[in-house]
Amino acid sequence: MEPSLNNDLGYPILIGDDLEDELRAFARRRGPVSAMLVDANPNLRPRIARVRAAIAAPSPLRVALSERRKRLATVEQTLDALLAAGVERSGLVVGAGGGVASDLFGFACGIYMRGVEYAHVATSLVAMVDAAIGGKTGVDLRGGKNLAGTFRDPVAVFCDVSALRTLPARAMREGLAEIVKAAIIEGGDFFEELEELAPHPLARWPWAHVIEMAVKVKTMTVADDRLEAGSRELLNLGHTFAHAIERASGFRVSHGAAVAVGLRAAGLLALRTGRFSEREYLRVLALLTLVGLPLQIPLEPRAIFTAMGSDKKKRNGRLRFVLPRSLGDVEYGIECDPRSVRAVLAKLSQPPGTVDARR
Ligand SMILES: NC(=O)c1ccc[n+]([C@@H]2O[C@H](COP(=O)([O-])OP(=O)(O)OC[C@H]3O[C@@H](n4cnc5c(N)ncnc54)[C@H](O)[C@@H]3O)[C@@H](O)[C@H]2O)c1
Ligand SMILES: [Zn+2]
Repeated sequence: MEPSLNNDLGYPILIGDDLEDELRAFARRRGPVSAMLVDANPNLRPRIARVRAAIAAPSPLRVALSERRKRLATVEQTLDALLAAGVERSGLVVGAGGGVASDLFGFACGIYMRGVEYAHVATSLVAMVDAAIGGKTGVDLRGGKNLAGTFRDPVAVFCDVSALRTLPARAMREGLAEIVKAAIIEGGDFFEELEELAPHPLARWPWAHVIEMAVKVKTMTVADDRLEAGSRELLNLGHTFAHAIERASGFRVSHGAAVAVGLRAAGLLALRTGRFSEREYLRVLALLTLVGLPLQIPLEPRAIFTAMGSDKKKRNGRLRFVLPRSLGDVEYGIECDPRSVRAVLAKLSQPPGTVDARR
């Protein structure tokens, strides 16, 4: 398979099981690599050692990362490490890790000496299909997630599919939720292929192919609207609900689980407002279930509704949603009346089935 994905973003995205030749060629073309920034998780060491050998990078700068350390203080540590390593403004930095790494290292490199070139080796499913692609970088503030950052493109992204072998199941599910979302946006073969794969163990999935299908949805959507002024919102399918669920749970519910429930909620709201067919809604539920994602969440509907009021994507005080009309035909910017939204939220603590049919 040709590992470089054609895309309109202006930087190569390479997806494959063993990207060492591609990494070597990249370093030869763009190098030398001035520094390597890596997620310090010890489980990543073997993969990172191979990447480092391929790009002939100096000894990696290890940064302890976690969702809680996705903060400005960690950015400062990263900047200090780059300076101590003697990285110059004309330097090239290669980072490796999951979505926290691509967000935080990408941001640090975007502001270090007003910006050095940055390439990312994605090691988690979320980083491969979502976080490392599209140029959004940043960190959390005390007041909320991803509230400080920049739009800044990497010079290349490598989706190191073989790294997935050591990725914990929980992190795998986070990525699966975004893949199902992308498949609803794209419809057609992508959705059908996932339906065929879903009953099989994840270890047997043709991951390079699945990742490529999801990455295509992301690159095409982002290329149409790089600064998120409009159509990029499509990628927020399920996310107005998901963000509110995460907040209402005090972030005890993971983003992936919240997105899965959010996709059910978006489907329900679309059903209720007469835009989505029951048959396709049930296909979405079946796919989410088969890949092991949840459909219900034990939260007070009122708490979720209140949390929706503080969504950063809200415009002029009105709630807007991304809703499917059919698989492959998703619309954004749809205002819905609060009664319908509340009716949908009331169902999310119960399993689907007859309860969803009686809308
Ligand atoms: N910028 C964007 O457009 C965008 C889009 C989606 C998500 N994100 C961000 O991405 C982050 C979530 O990404 P994530 O799920 O990759 O989280 P993560 O980076 O925290 O990785 C999850 C866990 O897996 C470990 N890990 C990573 N790769 C591994 C591997 N190959 N083997 C073993 N362990 C590995 C990490 O050390 C971590 O413990 C969130 O902060 C989210 O805001 C950003
Ligand atoms: Zn998401």
